[in-house]
Amino acid sequence: MQGKKILIGITGSIAAYKIILLVRLLTKEGAEVKIVMTKSATQFVSPLVLSTLSGNPVLTDLSSENEWANHVMLGRWADYMMIAPLSCNTLSKMAYGVCDNLLLAVYLSATCRVGVAPAMDEDMWLHPTTKQNIEQLKSQHVDVIPVGFGGLASGLTGEGRMAEPEQLFSFLEKQLMGSPIHKNKKVVITAGPTYEHIDPVRFIGNHSSGKMGIALAEAFCMAGAEVHLVLGPSHLKPKYTDIQVYHVTTAIQMYEKVMEHAKSAHIFVMSAAVADYKPKSVLQQKHKKKNGELHIELDLNPDILFVIGQQKTNDQYLVGFALETENAKENALEKLSSKNADCIILNSLEDPEVGFGKDTNKICILSKNGQTVDFPAKSKSLLANDIVSFISKEVNHEVA
Ligand code: CTP
Repeated sequence: MQGKKILIGITGSIAAYKIILLVRLLTKEGAEVKIVMTKSATQFVSPLVLSTLSGNPVLTDLSSENEWANHVMLGRWADYMMIAPLSCNTLSKMAYGVCDNLLLAVYLSATCRVGVAPAMDEDMWLHPTTKQNIEQLKSQHVDVIPVGFGGLASGLTGEGRMAEPEQLFSFLEKQLMGSPIHKNKKVVITAGPTYEHIDPVRFIGNHSSGKMGIALAEAFCMAGAEVHLVLGPSHLKPKYTDIQVYHVTTAIQMYEKVMEHAKSAHIFVMSAAVADYKPKSVLQQKHKKKNGELHIELDLNPDILFVIGQQKTNDQYLVGFALETENAKENALEKLSSKNADCIILNSLEDPEVGFGKDTNKICILSKNGQTVDFPAKSKSLLANDIVSFISKEVNHEVA
């Protein structure tokens, strides 16, 4: 966000306190922040706190101390204007072009893209007039950040909560930093481990954290794709709320969820560490210890990568992962052809600082059209960007 210019408009709502954290997040990442508030917003959050955190004076009036606030230049200065929280009152004024304060004057003259984060009580949010006003803003190409469900200022629980500061930050990051190379593409990603039940308390699992797959989901989302993440047991979650996450436990559940999207997806990325085998039968009661050996009979799980490889069309692109302990490239090439994948991402085992649960990874991409591209060890999120742009070139038949 270094050097990005963000103009925040704050209106009168209890959710205004959340903007303090948003300003912190933005300035920490190097963005320049200017703030305009309505009069009633100043009753909810102090302009002094906001001007201190943003490093810029907070503006509330069209003129102060004989000086005119140049609303036209403010709207031209910004790369993005976000009105958050957006009250019902300001929403209706925006929808009808009312201009009775500085914030509305800036909005009406803004040449940059504008987004709003509504905040209101559920009954107000669900009122037909509010819905109509929201539609009116959308038709004027204003981005509307979805409201959340939860505790409301009234003490009730319901729809209408403003998005959290971290979500507003991610939204801005996507708007300003993303390059839509995968716009209109539907991407299905598997990530994390699978757990195969032995009895009600035990399972066969593995050490996959899901980090690489989540980083890929975020990178595809930043690249404008519609992302569906099928995630095995993991304590991590993607930072963008518009990634559709399906939590699954077993390989069979992962397989079934992927198959639901098998026809409609454009790109499949199989980064999950799927258990190849599952116990033949799951004990209904906890297994009691007995003397002697215990043998558990195992059955093969469906091979999701293989099945998608068999049925994919020429317009669908399939990415597999491989982790090999010997003859790495040779085995990865064998996997590329036996699974009918379009490329295989080979994880390196050479460096102890990379791999399962770590923040860094070292990979080599081997593609069906004969390319082998080695990437140096780097953070999983940077690698995810590399993978996303590699796939974009492949899908668009450009030279990688
Ligand atoms: N994979 C899958 N379904 C499985 C097993 C693996 O979709 N039941 C996918 C993984 O997500 C990964 C790729 O297959 O993209 C490679 O997984 P790996 O375990 O290395 O391959 P296997 O075919 O199981 O071969 P092996 O374990 O013998 O190397």
